[in-house]
Amino acid sequence: MKGLILSGGAGTRLRPITHTAAKQLVPVANKPVLFYALEAMRAAGISEVGVVVGDTRAEIEAAVGDGSRFGLAVTYLPQEAPLGLAHAVLISEAYLGDDPFVMYLGDNLLKEGITPFVEAFAADRPDALILLQKVADPKSYGIAELDGDGRVARLVEKPAEPRSDLALVGVYLFTPAVFESVKAIVPSARGELEITDAIQHMVDRGLNVEPHVVTGWWKDTGKLEDMLEANRLVLSTLEGDVRGELLETTLEGAVAVGPGSRLERCTVRGPAVIGAGCRLSDSFVGPYTSISDGVVVDHAELEHSIVLENSRISSLGARMTDSLIGRECVIARSQARPVAYRFLVGDRSRIGIL
Ligand code: TTP
Repeated sequence: MKGLILSGGAGTRLRPITHTAAKQLVPVANKPVLFYALEAMRAAGISEVGVVVGDTRAEIEAAVGDGSRFGLAVTYLPQEAPLGLAHAVLISEAYLGDDPFVMYLGDNLLKEGITPFVEAFAADRPDALILLQKVADPKSYGIAELDGDGRVARLVEKPAEPRSDLALVGVYLFTPAVFESVKAIVPSARGELEITDAIQHMVDRGLNVEPHVVTGWWKDTGKLEDMLEANRLVLSTLEGDVRGELLETTLEGAVAVGPGSRLERCTVRGPAVIGAGCRLSDSFVGPYTSISDGVVVDHAELEHSIVLENSRISSLGARMTDSLIGRECVIARSQARPVAYRFLVGDRSRIGIL
């Protein structure tokens, strides 16, 4: 069995972060989302993985390389434009060949990994296996309707009037029978070849599409709120591990501090992770915070936030919360006159002030 990880796409919902960076590389608990998918593949015994890439190919390749450090052989599959999940399958046919494969959306996180589903697929040998989870707002997802016998009857992308609350999780297992279906369907109203339409086509052809309900948490990190929630879910399993230097600093709960970091006169209330080479002084870091390498925090309080590499947060007048800060950002109180807010922010940024 091969793996197929979708790591192209536009990432419009995570702008401005995705103006300059691939959303699959935004870290959750200081590890890029994409790495969780690669690790899940390896844990399921898969060794050959195709990674579908778009405009951010160079960045993804720089981070993942040939896959050997994940115990994988990775092949990059360029997609000329984000023309849909089924389009990504279409362009991967030559790579996947006659092998069954597990397709994993590169911005998704699944607590239980994929091993149980890969095993179920090998045991039951359906034509496709889809993962489902009950959601509170089915209008926002691809939704599966099951018939009285628990078989997949209909799949609808973001239904206006949902008849089921079972959303399609971003992991799918297919036999090569899927190729006939991705070739048969036409682009949807939003101009994409939809994977829901391809799976529906398989159902309509009388193929066996087996549904599995996922019980552990699943997160699609495509939006800020979901990214923060994924960060929360992963951090809640964090174990404390301090490699940096602590001076007059109190740690409460599970806190990880990377090598070369120095914390002076701080309180860190976990779960929280602080990367390598950070400088924190006279500050409070609250629960569910991930601070990447090289970040400087002084005279500031932050919690429930993700801060990317080499940013500086300094002398804030209030606690920062629910935030995603990109790389090399500066958020600081200034002494300059007139006393005023001064912003240099990218397109589609969001700033909430007191
Ligand atoms: P989505 O989150 O559905 O799409 P997107 O990345 O374009 O984001 P947005 O809706 O915010 O603009 O994509 C799920 C995953 O699949 C994500 O990792 C990107 C990837 N993808 C591709 O590789 N090719 C594609 O054609 C599409 C649509 C997505």
